Amino acid sequence: MKSAIKYLFLIITFLIVSCGVYEEEEKNKIKLKNKKTEKTIKSTLTTKPSETIDLTNKGIGPIKSITLPAEINQQMVAEGEAVFKRLCSACHRVGKKFIGPAPNGLLKKRTPEWIMNMLLDPEGMAKNDPLAISLLKEYNGSPMVNQNLTENQARAILEYFRTLE
Ligand code: HEC
Repeated sequence: MKSAIKYLFLIITFLIVSCGVYEEEEKNKIKLKNKKTEKTIKSTLTTKPSETIDLTNKGIGPIKSITLPAEINQQMVAEGEAVFKRLCSACHRVGKKFIGPAPNGLLKKRTPEWIMNMLLDPEGMAKNDPLAISLLKEYNGSPMVNQNLTENQARAILEYFRTLE
């Protein structure tokens, strides 16, 4: 009889202990999950404006809508590249961040309208467009300048940007 009580006591102790271990494991799992969520939220919040993908924002400015033909117009590309070299390369370099961001892969991040508005009215964009405003902050207040491009020149630069992966 006595040993039966002893066994019963042992079993109960075992159950209590294993319950505690199980609870502790569950708690750790939840902690891990929370840490992961925290990390995801942090990385979303710390994506730089220059790396932010926003393919709905058309910006604020003279260009409301553009349709890009599927085929790239090589003559426009050549013209755009020439204008870019002349008026933009003081601050923008292909393939690396310089005074301004690198133009590579820009059309994967921005709408053609947003880019055109940035080229034609950078002051208005820096005042009114949320993405342009945060971009200006990222670049410590050094602004994208207005080079008084004609709409055709801006469109040619856009075509050139389409070729920069
Ligand atoms: C005096 C320097 C300077 C010149 C010249 C300049 N830019 Fe910029 N540009 C900047 C800076 C700095 C930024 C980022 C800060 C901002 O947008 O306010 C920028 C931003 C941009 C952006 C937005 C980039 C992005 O990642 O969203 C585009 C597009 C751009 N410039 C194109 C041009 C083109 C095309 C020209 C020539 C016609 C040009 N820039 C001339 C300094 C310059």
